[in-house]
This record gives sequence, C-alpha cells and structure tokens, in this order.
Amino acid sequence: MLAPLLAVLAISTFVEASPILNSTSGASPSPLSTAQISAFKPYSYYAAAAYCSADNTLAWDCGISCNATRANFVPTFSGGDGSSVQFWYTGYDSVLDTVIVGHQGTHSEDPVPILTDASIVFADFDSNLFPGLTSKVGAQGHSGFVGQHAMTATDVLAAVTSTLARYNVTSVTTVGHSSGGAISLIEAVYLQFQLPSNIQISTIGYAVPRVGNQEFADYVDLHLPSLVTHINNQDDIVPILPGRFLGYHHTSGEIRIQEDGSWFSCPGQDNTSTKCSTGAVTSIFDGSASFHKGPYDGVMMSTSTCST
Ligand SMILES: *[C@@H]1O[C@H](CO)[C@@H](O)[C@H](O)[C@H]1NC(C)=O
Ligand SMILES: *[C@@H]1O[C@H](CO)[C@@H](O)[C@H](O)[C@H]1NC(C)=O
Ligand SMILES: *[C@@H]1O[C@H](CO)[C@@H](O)[C@H](O)[C@H]1NC(C)=O
Repeated sequence: MLAPLLAVLAISTFVEASPILNSTSGASPSPLSTAQISAFKPYSYYAAAAYCSADNTLAWDCGISCNATRANFVPTFSGGDGSSVQFWYTGYDSVLDTVIVGHQGTHSEDPVPILTDASIVFADFDSNLFPGLTSKVGAQGHSGFVGQHAMTATDVLAAVTSTLARYNVTSVTTVGHSSGGAISLIEAVYLQFQLPSNIQISTIGYAVPRVGNQEFADYVDLHLPSLVTHINNQDDIVPILPGRFLGYHHTSGEIRIQEDGSWFSCPGQDNTSTKCSTGAVTSIFDGSASFHKGPYDGVMMSTSTCST
C-alpha cells in the first residue's frame, strides 16, 4: 500500500489531574518524568477504545482499554457506524473528573491515503458550528477531517452537554488517535465555541496529522493555551503529513516518544529539533508507518485491541 502513496508524495507530500504540560515557547525539548508519562495512560486507553464499536463502548465492553479504565468510567452515549461515520463515545471519568469524548481514527492499518488523497485540500469551517473561525480568523482545515467532524458535531455536543449536567462537571477532554486525533482537535475548538466559558476543554491526541493552516494553528494556541497535547511515537510518518509545503501547520503541544522510550515535550509549533517529529522525520522516506499504532507507554491503538 505504500507504493502508490510514495508516488503521490514524490510528485506533490486541566484540572489538577490533567497531565497537560505548560510548554513555554522557545524552551528546549524537555523530558517528562515517569509520573508525567503515567498520567497519560488513562487517556491512551480512552483513545484506543474509540476504535471499538458504538455498542461496545456504550456497554464499556471493549477488551483491554475498557477493562483498564472500568473502575473509574461511566459511558453515557456513543454513535457512528465505523465506516461512513467514524465511531465516537462520551462518558465520565470520576478520578480525572472530566467528560471524555473519544473519536475513532480511520484506517489504523493504513492511515496514509486520507492524508494524501483529494481531501488534503483546505475547507472552510462551517459558520454555524464555528462562528467567524474562517470569515474573521482565516482558519481552514483539512477537508476530510472538517467533513468528518461535521457529521457528528451536533450529536456529540448534545451528548457532552447532557453528560456535563448529569455529573455536574466543568471539564471536557477529547481524545483520539490518527485522524481520530485530528477530529478530536477540531472537536475541542468546536466545543469551546458552543459551551459556556466556564467549561475547560482539553484535547489529547496520538499520532495526529497536521489539521489546518497557520491561522488555525495560531488560533488554537491562543484560545486553548496548554490544553492541546499531541503525542507522537518515534519515526511515525503520519505526524509530518500533510506537508508544511502544502500550507499545513501543527499546533503547539507536541510530545514525542524517543527511540529509547523516553518522552520529550517539544515547545512551539512544528519544532525542528531532532527530538521532535518535524525535525526527526524530514521526509516520509525518513520514517515508517510501523510506529503509528504504538506502543504509547504500552498502549496500542487499533481495532485489534477491541476483542474481549
Ligand atoms: C524548538 O526547540 C528548540 C530547542 O531545541 C527551541 O530553541 C526552539 O525555540 C523550539 N522551536 C520552536 C518553534 O518553538
Ligand atoms: C476483560 O475483562 C473481561 C471480564 O473480566 C474478561 O473476560 C476479558 O478476558 C478481559 N479482556 C482483556 C483483553 O483483558
Ligand atoms: C455542582 O458543582 C458545584 C461546584 O462545582 C456546586 O457548587 C454545586 O452545588 C453542584 N450542584 C449539584 C446539583 O450538585
């Protein structure tokens, strides 16, 4: 499956429990402590669980990811069909005291086509869902991710609103892997537009591709400061797609897992340090899709983790 891709590219390319780090732009990449790494573990399981069917997440019966989090988690809603509409779910974690929103990624076995096909063209953000984001800010996003997010946006908003009220909480954390991480980032921006300003919205993504243009990345850095984390595993090529030369930029908040298993926080957008994805993987020939599924501190992200 990589051959057609290469041909295409050759031509074109919290709250107190929150583990989100305060990264100061301009500082050096810095290692995370063992405790900081461990704090991501429940979110990693939540992102992996999003690969499982809507029936399984609603029953919280999805193999290792559900088993590992069951003691603290109550599922509330789920949806999607896993093909034309990606699976999603919502629920409440009583230890993290946050509403979790999980979004499934597409094609964990072969994530690259969506990043190289026609949907890499930019799309405007719907003015009803994101008032002014395109018309006033100039932000645009990958049309595939923007379109996928829009398909479930109002259902997810209703589910989140209901779960916030049911558990009387003021925190929402969106999670996902690969394109599910991209949808989760867009979801976080959307929820900030739609929910009252006392609700704190964070997102923790894994192997997230670039989602939008420079205006989008700058908007996220300004309006969700230190609330966005995207965790990359070694030389995975997905985080360097779509290419910067196409106008795509990452938000701040990268953490990259190094070859020796240590985790480093990478300040700024698209940090070119060799400890960070943009600096370490300078072209798709430099990396491999084999790192894409993980492990992220032992947690693998794919449908194959869903069997009980
Ligand atoms: C990337 O990290 C370096 C340290 O290695 C730092 O000097 C630089 O400011 C960072 N880049 C960005 C874009 O923040
Ligand atoms: C998850 O827990 C159930 C119920 O205890 C058990 O039957 C199943 O084997 C567990 N699955 C995994 C993958 O841990
Ligand atoms: C909801 O939580 C707030 C504090 O965050 C508290 O003041 C309020 O009494 C709670 N409401 C209910 C119905 O428990």
